Amino acid sequence: MAKKAPPISLLGLMLLDPASNHNRPMLYDELFDRLERARWELRRDIPFDSIDRQALTPQWISDVRQVHLTELSALYATEMFLRDFYADIDFCSFISVWFYEEMKHCLTLRRYLEHVGEEFGDEFERELPRLRLTFAEGPAIETLTMHFVGEQRLAHWYTAFSTSAPEPVLRLIFSKLAGDELRHAACYAGYLRKAVQNNPECLPAILRMTLWMLRSTNDAPKHPTTITEPSVVSKLDDPDYIPRMLNLYLPGRDHEAPVRRRVLALMSELAGTEMRTIRDLLPALRAAA
Ligand SMILES: [Fe+2]
Ligand SMILES: [Fe+2]
Repeated sequence: MAKKAPPISLLGLMLLDPASNHNRPMLYDELFDRLERARWELRRDIPFDSIDRQALTPQWISDVRQVHLTELSALYATEMFLRDFYADIDFCSFISVWFYEEMKHCLTLRRYLEHVGEEFGDEFERELPRLRLTFAEGPAIETLTMHFVGEQRLAHWYTAFSTSAPEPVLRLIFSKLAGDELRHAACYAGYLRKAVQNNPECLPAILRMTLWMLRSTNDAPKHPTTITEPSVVSKLDDPDYIPRMLNLYLPGRDHEAPVRRRVLALMSELAGTEMRTIRDLLPALRAAA
């Protein structure tokens, strides 16, 4: 009798969560505890009443508005994660926490803007459908890699904004957001490790996507919200806000050294060979392919 094709859920399990993995606890269990321990409370930990309104410029207010809308893109990313990782219960469980935290970033920035007198009316709900992009199903492992590098990079940007913003409460908010983004990157790293353990053949795809993601410039910065066509950022009122902010607050050619170091540390671990520069990815990629 001809074998029946496995149901879609089993096809998915083959990539990220094969049967050999079933006796191991889900990563989600551990990440849930770790993220909960590190969590800050919006109402308690952000002193909105202490905002020094005079310290802000109209440009900063406008930029914060753009960042706040960019955070909203977690909504469409979540829709696609749940679709593309349908069979991976562990990863989909983690996405519930990730989505919550990204929407909290959006809300935190919106509350900040409201405290400095910005009015939204129904703008938020009007913006939502405009930024709700959907793309064709993508290869799960490349999506994971793209988000791992993207979170590292966003943490780096927010850390820079946390030192250069002119207003103390805004600096505090960006440092909280940077900490969250860095923890998100660590979670994605956990799922990349799991993917390689379960299926070493996915390593070349991870290295290839990493190589592509690390080749980023201030004028064409690579992040999940900028690299698609169209992208979330391209649909904002000020689609050039990221290059402008980067050229102001992260000038210089080599400011990405911390991002590269953290990303290459994981790639070295996954490939079992030390990589210190973007170039080192090429021989590792040839050896793995
Ligand atoms: Fe975020
Ligand atoms: Fe994040």
